[in-house]
This record gives sequence, structure tokens and C-alpha cells, in this order.
Amino acid sequence: MTVRLYLPRDAAALAVGADRVATAIEAEAKARDLPVSIVRTGSRGLFWLEPMLEVETPAGRIAYGPVTPADVAGLFDAGLPVAGPHPLRLGRPEDLPFLKRQTRLTFARCGIVDPLSLAGYRAHGGYRGLERALSLGPAGIVDEVVKSGLRGRGGAGFPTGIKWKTVAETPAARKYIVCNADEGDSGTFADRMILEGDPFVLIEGMTIAGIAVGATKGFVYIRSEYPDAIATFARALRIAYDDACLGPRIAGSVYSFDIELRVGAGAYVCGEETALLESLEGRRGQVRAKPPLPAHKGLFGQPTVINNLVSLASVPVILAEGAEHYAALGLGRSRGTMPIQIAGNVKHGGLFEAAFGLTLGEIIDDIGGGTATGRPVRAVQAGGPLGAYFPRALFDTPYDYEAFTARNGLIGHGGLVVFDDSVDMARQARFAMEFCAIESCGKCTPCRLGSTRGVEVVDRIIAGRDVEANLALIEDLCQTMKFGSLCALGGFTPYPVMSAITHFPEDFGRTAAAAA
Ligand SMILES: Cc1cc2nc3c(=O)[nH]c(=O)nc-3n(C[C@H](O)[C@H](O)[C@H](O)COP(=O)(O)O)c2cc1C
Ligand code: SF4
Repeated sequence: MTVRLYLPRDAAALAVGADRVATAIEAEAKARDLPVSIVRTGSRGLFWLEPMLEVETPAGRIAYGPVTPADVAGLFDAGLPVAGPHPLRLGRPEDLPFLKRQTRLTFARCGIVDPLSLAGYRAHGGYRGLERALSLGPAGIVDEVVKSGLRGRGGAGFPTGIKWKTVAETPAARKYIVCNADEGDSGTFADRMILEGDPFVLIEGMTIAGIAVGATKGFVYIRSEYPDAIATFARALRIAYDDACLGPRIAGSVYSFDIELRVGAGAYVCGEETALLESLEGRRGQVRAKPPLPAHKGLFGQPTVINNLVSLASVPVILAEGAEHYAALGLGRSRGTMPIQIAGNVKHGGLFEAAFGLTLGEIIDDIGGGTATGRPVRAVQAGGPLGAYFPRALFDTPYDYEAFTARNGLIGHGGLVVFDDSVDMARQARFAMEFCAIESCGKCTPCRLGSTRGVEVVDRIIAGRDVEANLALIEDLCQTMKFGSLCALGGFTPYPVMSAITHFPEDFGRTAAAAA
């Protein structure tokens, strides 16, 4: 009997040789005349164990990892395709502490199913959300999303249900759903993992959004740096159309929905919603002044829901399990789960979906296991390149939108980038200003000019020139950028800069006492 093996084809697994492992397994099985079939999945998100091979057994799957092509013959010697003992044997994946501690809702199927099998998607709960959505009708769907407490997972944390309600209540002949999969934040990969590991959940989420607000067309804007995600999602779209999951009269209903894939042009600012709309319309990605909000006047001047990919991909499970189920998880006004992406200099990097409320210390020290270099953790940048640096002294901060805001930080898209004690925080502050200077769309002066002046001022501090005067100048400049910028690129660059100066004064030629 043919034994089924599972091996990720996610970009993270490919980067560490998953394709070469697949080729080695096929060759070895052929040489030994053993019948195996390899199902290529997404990643479960335990990146330090990739490529992670799983073997189907009567007792469930057994994992091995990280597997290299050189390990393959030894695995067969140990009994493969039967899951025999081997130094790389990890046991049942769901028993691994990193997975066991998670609450997987949005990522429930990721790493388990063949991302391009609609039958597999349905067998693992797919399209139950749409079924319920059709029974609730547009107003009922919006109500359910409002009640779930889901907030935008792209950065600003705006309540998704309220955004949908605004679009639903704005009269127009044509409305749009736009999925923001530009995923420009450092240390983030949740959007990519869905696109490569469970693309139908996004198609289902966007279809539900379309029905809810009265839109019949959606666009998915994927960053150009994601060639594997683009290819997988394009194939998923074709499969969905062939199966009548997209197009006219979805699931025999009165609703139609189409999705078009667009590839971004490689600018960080194109992740900002209005710059993204400009880009979609074929213009240079430059930020639009608000109002009007995209919900009133968005793509091609029509009411538009623009949501992060994770926000949209969280909707099917909310509809399938009910708003109360989702809202019962979390802390304060941060409801449900968040795919926390642990990256940088960390031992156990990957995607950890959990209810809001863990402390930063639990995430970095317990779950992440500290640094990969084994040196002490000195700083964590939370929320991408515009997020604050947190020192160990703030590791008691609960992972929650309001708690991070209260400490001058942000959760953003859920990225955490870990640094050990060799990091130079003055260089990181310079990098933040330089990043803003490079990525600025140029529309407003505080960002366009302020960031370039900011690099110059940090350079003077690093060189030890008039340190106190230049620190006062950079603080003043940060205030101007924070309050005078048109969008969060210029407006949030002060967060990494000022958090570095505040929490790591010694790197700026200051003592902690002088900084106070
Ligand atoms: C400079 C900049 C870059 C951004 N990049 C992204 C991005 O890559 N992906 C994303 O979903 N949101 C990004 N955002 C946030 C979007 O403007 C917007 O808030 C989000 O797409 C709304 O979706 P949500 O409510 O589901 O989070 C960015 C914002 C700024 C200011
Ligand atoms: S803050 Fe920067 S990116 Fe945003 S509108 Fe102004 S110049 Fe453009």
C-alpha cells in the first residue's frame, strides 16, 4: 500500500532545501521499490525544524526534522515509509510544545492540507463559514464580524466589522474588496504562509466580505518579492473558478464574486492602503489624503473594503464557529487570536497563533527559546520597521493592542524581531530614519525631508558631536514627524528612534541617569 508522506513547499522550507529532500525521497523509494506519495503542504510554522517531513501512520502523523537530503537514506534504513525510530524523529507534530501551546483558528489547516486541494480544504472545515454566511445574509454577516471583535491585522487594529458596515451602508453601483498582501513589515510572513499553505481560506473570506457589503469584485495585491505565494495563489484562483467557488451564483446562491490577483511593485509604502489603491489603479504608489476614507471612496472612486490578508482569512472560522467563540478568546479590546511571527536572532523562530494576552517575555523567552546565538536578548522590535524597540525591562507587557500602545509601541502585523546584546541601538535608530528616507513616497515634508535630516543628526550623535544638543534636535524632529506626517510611515518612524534613545541611552553616549 502506498504510504503518504507530507513535506512543505512553503518558501521557508524551500529555502532550506525541501525540494532537494523531496527528490531524494523519490529516488530512494524508487531504488528500494517502496510505494510512497509525497503531498506538498504549506508550513506548520516551526521554521527551525524545516524541512519537516511527516509520515502518515494509523496513529496519526509522525514528524522528522530538520531533514536534509543526506538524511534520507538513513530514514529509509530506519524503516521509512513506516515511521520508525531515528535521531530526527520528533513524534506527533501536535504534541510538540510550540504547536501544543497554540490556538490555531486562522492557521488551522496550514501545514496540514495540500494547499491546492479543494477536497482537502472542505474535509478540514473549509466553506463551512460561507455556508453559514449565506444563511445569515449580508446584515447578519456584518453583525457577526462586529460581535467577534476582530480588528485589522494589518497594523492599525481598526474594527473590521465597523469598516464593513460603513461600506455596506454606502450606496454605490459598484463596490470592491481589496486584500492587502503587501506584507512589507520586517519579520512578518503570516500572509505568505496563508497564500502558500491555505489559499482557499482567503478566497472564502473575501467572498464572505463581498456578500456582506454588496461587492462583486475583489483584488489581492501581493508583494512582488513573494514569487511562490503568487504562483500558488494564481493556481488556487483557477481551481476555485473551475469548481464554481468563484464567478456567478456562488454555491447556488444569488451572489457572484470575482477575484483578480495583482503583483505589487516593491515599495513599502504600497502597503499603506491609499498608496495601494493608487498602485492598483496603475499610478505611482503615493499616499492619498484622507478623508475621503476608502470605505466611502476607494478603488476607482467606489466604496472599498481594504483589509489585511489575515483579517480576511480569519472571517471563515469566525462565521463557522460563531462570533462568541472567537470573542471569548483574548484580552481587553483585543479579541480572538493573533498569528505572532517570531523572527530575527531567535532559537525557535516561526508562526505562533495564540489568543492575545501572553506577555512579551513568555513569547520571546519561553516560546522563542531566547536567541539563536545563545547570547542574552537585548531588544525586540515589535510591529515592523515602524515599531518600537522593547528592552527586557518591558517584557511584562501583555501582547494586546492597548498594552503596547500604552508603552509607546505597536503590535502592527504581529512581527517580533529579536536582537542579542551585540546590537548597536544607535545604528538601529539610524536605520529607522534611513528606511523612512528610502521608502518615503515624498508627498509630505516632515517625512520626505525630516527622515534625511534625521539620518544626518543620528550620524552626528554616533560620531560623538554635540551629543546632548543633537539628541534634543532629534527629539524635536521626531515630534514634527509624528504629528506633521500625512501617514504612518513618517508618523511612526519616531517610535523605533525614540524607543532606542529612551531604553538604550548608553548606545547614544548617554548614561541612564542623564537620559532620565
Ligand atoms: C507605510 C505603511 C505600510 C503598510 N503596509 C501594510 C502591509 O504591508 N499590509 C497591510 O495589511 N497593511 C499595511 N499597512 C496598513 C494599511 O494602511 C491598512 O491599515 C490595512 O491594510 C487595513 O487593513 P486591516 O484593517 O485589515 O488591518 C501599512 C500602513 C503604512 C502606513
Ligand atoms: S508620511 Fe511619508 S510616506 Fe506618508 S504621505 Fe508623507 S511622505 Fe508619503
